[in-house]
Amino acid sequence: MAEVVVVEDQDAAGELAARSIVQLIRSTPDAVLGLATGSTPLPLYRALAATVASDGVDVSRVRGFALDEYVGLPAGHPESYRSVITREVVEPLGLDPQRIHVPNGSLEGIEHAGADYERAIVAAGGVDVQILGIGTDGHLGFNEPGSSFASLTRVKTLTEQTRRDNARFFASESDVPVHCITQGLGTILRARHLILLAFGAGKADAVAGAVEGPVSASNPGSAIQLHPHATVLVDGAAAANLRNLDYYRYAWLNKPSWQGI
Ligand code: F6R
Repeated sequence: MAEVVVVEDQDAAGELAARSIVQLIRSTPDAVLGLATGSTPLPLYRALAATVASDGVDVSRVRGFALDEYVGLPAGHPESYRSVITREVVEPLGLDPQRIHVPNGSLEGIEHAGADYERAIVAAGGVDVQILGIGTDGHLGFNEPGSSFASLTRVKTLTEQTRRDNARFFASESDVPVHCITQGLGTILRARHLILLAFGAGKADAVAGAVEGPVSASNPGSAIQLHPHATVLVDGAAAANLRNLDYYRYAWLNKPSWQGI
């Protein structure tokens, strides 16, 4: 079962996750971070950047792999995930850009971009901690409903709902690419620790489905139930539809402090 921690707000979630990641970097200076984009992880990236600066954490050897990328956006497009990761993570934390990988979404070579990315993750020794958001339709990465739990990095077609959800980053919905390249659910499940963040009432159904719903490819988020170390950090609104909410709160209150998340 995933550990569910209900926090006061997004900043509290960001600080809790950032503390855990800083601890990882202190023990493993070349730690491999799995980096999600979208709105959800931003408070975590802010908290991480603040702690790195205030505590003088050495991040010079930290490595990273983005979860996904749009296919076909022009190089340097401000909403390409390469640009977003550079703007929101690499620059604020002071990471070495050479050590941060993003799937190659350019049309040239797209046929083998997924396999190339998988090889790079394996060569790095795998992902230590994978940061995740969740789509309103339950997607993890861009693994839309129906994605195999064994899937690896590959090109996928975004659902119309995801394109509508992401239209806020573009001039119009029709500007949101139809295709993406995403780590598979199988890739995500190989990471050693999953930290899934979700905030707001709009994510309540997706969170309940992921944590407590039947494990099914129709519900990609439910793949986390197969992972031995998955942490779900949610605010009250995103936790609202969890049946065992009282137990999650009780377990967290009684958790030995040495365990961390
Ligand atoms: C982003 C990603 C997606 C998002 C999800 C939620 O790299 O893989 O799964 O995490 O679409 O997006 P936000 O956080 O914008 O609600």
